[in-house]
Amino acid sequence: MLLEITGLKKEYPLPGGAGRRTVLAGVDLSLERGEVVGVLGESGSGKSTLARMLLRLEAPTAGRLRYDGQDLLALKPAQLLAWRKKVQIVLQNPFRSLPPRKRVGDILREVVRFHRVRPREEEDAYIGELLEQVGLPTGAAGRFPFQFSGGERQRVAIARSLAVEPEFLLLDEPTSNLDLSIQAQVINLLADLRRRRNLTYLLITHDRPLAAYFCDRRLGLEEGRLSPM
Ligand SMILES: Nc1ncnc2c1ncn2[C@@H]1O[C@H](COP(=O)(O)OP(=O)(O)O)[C@@H](O)[C@H]1O
Ligand SMILES: [Mg+2]
Repeated sequence: MLLEITGLKKEYPLPGGAGRRTVLAGVDLSLERGEVVGVLGESGSGKSTLARMLLRLEAPTAGRLRYDGQDLLALKPAQLLAWRKKVQIVLQNPFRSLPPRKRVGDILREVVRFHRVRPREEEDAYIGELLEQVGLPTGAAGRFPFQFSGGERQRVAIARSLAVEPEFLLLDEPTSNLDLSIQAQVINLLADLRRRRNLTYLLITHDRPLAAYFCDRRLGLEEGRLSPM
């Protein structure tokens, strides 16, 4: 098993300190390498909360998270850094997640350099490859995020996620902000990348037809619990 989530619980304090609100009440999920698993849930059901805990951006109230035999809740700083290279997230709104005043080439270079994915002399070629793999022209490196359409911007965000050569991608409503025709293109790109790079995907969405088309297996998130659907 690649990813094992057991009894994952998340409570938030209610405003004013009047008790706690349970968002995740005990989530169990197992995922094999190479699988594409969908988590379906209404808005506010706790999907992004689940993603944030997997990324270790937030601590769960209770439960266990294991990836490839490693306890994600007991990672030392160096291991956490390594985990954040293995896992990447693609968000709904790339306009918000991409720094607006940086050129795309520099956005990618920053990640490549931080995680030392390639030596400096190979950076430019590598950035060109990444852009090509997501269907953007090499010239895209010199442009700013606002100079792209919504679909192209999501391609940039995907290129940035791929830059660290991750093995596991969390896709949090990756196409919900896009026009229908563009959604299909981005989904096909993600499917294609998965095959080419042997990736494992957890797709988080409220879009049933999308999950039915894209995922090997689907689970519903309701009242803080996941169940097969
Ligand atoms: N930091 C937080 N503090 C308090 N409540 C939160 C916090 N983050 C999320 N929530 C609440 O948890 C619930 C689930 O949020 P979220 O995981 O973003 O849902 P989804 O992604 O399924 O739309 C929402 O009701 C939200 O208001
Ligand atoms: Mg969400």
